[in-house]
Amino acid sequence: FEDEYNYNLALNITWHAGLTYAERTAILRQPGLTIWLTGLSASGKSTIATALEQHLLHNAFSAYRLDGDNIRFGLNKDLGFSPEDRVENIRRIGEVAKLFADAATVAIASFISPYIADRKIARDLHDAAGLTFIEVHVDVPLEVAEQRDPKQLYQKARAGIIKNFTGVSPDAPYEKPEKPEIYIDTSRESVEDAVAKIVEYLESNGILK
Ligand code: PPS
Repeated sequence: FEDEYNYNLALNITWHAGLTYAERTAILRQPGLTIWLTGLSASGKSTIATALEQHLLHNAFSAYRLDGDNIRFGLNKDLGFSPEDRVENIRRIGEVAKLFADAATVAIASFISPYIADRKIARDLHDAAGLTFIEVHVDVPLEVAEQRDPKQLYQKARAGIIKNFTGVSPDAPYEKPEKPEIYIDTSRESVEDAVAKIVEYLESNGILK
């Protein structure tokens, strides 16, 4: 098919316009957005995401965490860690996060999301829908992540038991964000610092009041 229009026509699907985001957000008095945490395994993404979710809920904002390991138990249980599967993993999560944001909720996505191009696809999806997308680089030196190794995955990767482990295997690189909205180095900043930094960003940019 030459274009998306003809493709959709052939599938007999048409977009059904219901309530708009503007209507939902006005009724609920709550903005929708996606906060996208990206970083190496054991960088602290899930810990920060959980603390942030807790903080937002306690402050009466609807927030929901989408997390790498957890999503792979359900929605993405058919995906592994090949480059193609990681692309599809992040494509789906980008779409799901966008739905949450559109539903006037704060979606907190925490995935390694190792490729710049895939994170850009997720961002562009949000931009096209007029929804805020904030990329947070949860950085940590690889040596520190390896020392933490809470799930002994680095150990298994070094022993050759896990083949394509991010940051360790040459075929599984991690592409650092070039211009993330927020940068956190978890070898220097505590979980509380990280949450405070994100909240400060949201407040000073008028995203959450
Ligand atoms: S990705 O790259 O964005 O598709 O990965 P993600 O969905 O975030 O899943 C990362 C978690 O899966 C576990 N795990 C692996 N990570 C990286 N490489 C390989 N080969 C791998 N195998 C399993 C690991 O628990 C990751 O969780 P975190 O929380 O990042 O440590």
